[in-house]
Amino acid sequence: MNPIGVVLGSGLGAFADTLGNRFETPYADIAGWPATTAVGHAGKLVTGLLGEIEVVVLSGRAHYYEGYTGAEVTLGIRELAKRGVDRVILTNAAGAIDPELHPGDLVLISDHINLMGQNPLTGRNDEALGPRFPDMTEAYSAQYREIARQTGAEMGIDLKEAVYAGLLGPSYETPAEIRFLRIIGAGLVGMSTVPEVIVANHMGMKVLAIACVTNMASGLLPQKLVHQEVLDAGARVRDTLIRLLNAVIPKLN
Ligand code: HPA
Repeated sequence: MNPIGVVLGSGLGAFADTLGNRFETPYADIAGWPATTAVGHAGKLVTGLLGEIEVVVLSGRAHYYEGYTGAEVTLGIRELAKRGVDRVILTNAAGAIDPELHPGDLVLISDHINLMGQNPLTGRNDEALGPRFPDMTEAYSAQYREIARQTGAEMGIDLKEAVYAGLLGPSYETPAEIRFLRIIGAGLVGMSTVPEVIVANHMGMKVLAIACVTNMASGLLPQKLVHQEVLDAGARVRDTLIRLLNAVIPKLN
């Protein structure tokens, strides 16, 4: 079986430490890699084993808001493909727009709305990697979502589903922007994942994406958003997410 890829978002790097036969490569040692700057991002590629399954982890990611190009933001996904990865689990931290979602929830992303104003596939297309106009009708595998939902249920983890709105950042949204996002059908908001999912689909990878809700989105509560609180909330769900990843990975094929 091909190796499976895992992308770990803000404060979620601990999953990589649980792998057997671990081998770490700092991103800086991979040709052309942008140095990550976001706080809480470890910045290394880790290969290892989960039981018999080969796992390639991207621990820490580059974001558009850091000033990187689409190619740079998605270099890690291209690197996974070079290593034979044909299916990938992406994790992220997200704000909840849907009032049914709460900080500490793990949510399966069912679809996205790209509001980043950019697409990582602009420019010349490399036909060897994928088509000029890739299909995005099932960018997030329905089969993988069902497997994750069932696995979660068996473990007592209630996994809801939501559409993820990807915004450029780095400022958090205004309350008016969140009301707009709710009207257009988004339940989650964040500043990552969308470019990676586009590039993964470009190369025909199957995608599962799990958001950790770290906060209610702007304007839903009478309080301001503070990045440290987002990191702290991510840390609180870390153990649950690691348990879930360990249980789900062997079932994705
Ligand atoms: N908005 C955008 N990105 C985020 C949020 C948010 O509320 N929380 C975590 N990442």
